[in-house]
Amino acid sequence: MNNNNFAKLRQALGSFPTGVTVVACRNSNNEPLGFTANSFTSVSLDPQLISICIDKKSFNIDLFSVTKHFAVSILSEDQQFISTIFATPNEDRFKEVHWESKQTKSPIISNSVAWFDCNTEQIINAGDHLMLIGKVVAFDSSPKTPLMYLRGNYVNLGLEQKMLLAMENKNTAIIVGAIIEWRKRVFLLEDKESDSLYFPSASRLGHINDSQSLLGKLNNLNISINEHYLFSVFENAEDKTSLIYYRAQVKEGAEALEENLYDFDSIPFDKLNDEASRIMLKRYIKERELNAFGIFVGKESEGKVEAISKTNQN
Ligand SMILES: Cc1cc2nc3c(=O)[nH]c(=O)nc-3n(C[C@H](O)[C@H](O)[C@H](O)COP(=O)(O)O)c2cc1C
Repeated sequence: MNNNNFAKLRQALGSFPTGVTVVACRNSNNEPLGFTANSFTSVSLDPQLISICIDKKSFNIDLFSVTKHFAVSILSEDQQFISTIFATPNEDRFKEVHWESKQTKSPIISNSVAWFDCNTEQIINAGDHLMLIGKVVAFDSSPKTPLMYLRGNYVNLGLEQKMLLAMENKNTAIIVGAIIEWRKRVFLLEDKESDSLYFPSASRLGHINDSQSLLGKLNNLNISINEHYLFSVFENAEDKTSLIYYRAQVKEGAEALEENLYDFDSIPFDKLNDEASRIMLKRYIKERELNAFGIFVGKESEGKVEAISKTNQN
């Protein structure tokens, strides 16, 4: 398959929304090892079987290709940082999370939405992956909201609910902004008077023909974007404004935006007009680098953004 087809297939496969899990087992020294996987599938109720697929290029393929047991933990929406840890190179991923073990002693992420403790039933050679079929020997589940993954992005259902709540509250002003990226560069507007930078924003998302809306303003700036995703919903602690931020990639015409595009490596953060924007942009860059390059990025939860729900700062 040529590279173009490969990318197209990845894109098509990514349009199937999934949950996010951590698959884990122990090595011969009894140490816990695991990785992030969204290839989890329920296979059979009787007998009780589930499956996951592991890339043959995976660092731990030798262990997973012989393991007698493994466990799958389904992550909740406030465990996105755990997905990040288990998808990036790290000597000891388990050092950074709470975990426990049950019947097979395979590691289970504490407070996950559900977990399945399995004996390995079958390992199937499947192209560039191995498919592990597990026989469930113990499991549990809770009503927590799961983290979701779609088109290479985490989807946070709680965030959507927060946005609806913010929009329903007629007493709070709403600002809808956008983090717009083009090839590892972010689009920022400049206020020459105060020598500061800010994200494009408006009082509503709207549509391209509504010049007072965010999409209309972007259209007037000749910015054509691909589909946009909800990225952050929070409340400004000072004026109680609700801020709703989307993220999007420039589709075409980026050349014309040249002077407003700032390289991820050289963003003048001190010029951003508020702390919330700085924190949000830093988080965006970390998450984008993980999606694109899979490098180690550490924990993302360093922000001090006043979230509407303090438990979830997305
Ligand atoms: C949301 C998400 C889902 C993933 N799903 C899988 C998967 O199903 N199988 C897999 O082998 N890798 C998957 N990966 C990639 C691995 O988590 C990643 O390559 C990890 O570093 C592998 O760890 P290891 O090489 O240390 O074993 C996924 C990554 C993310 C962010």
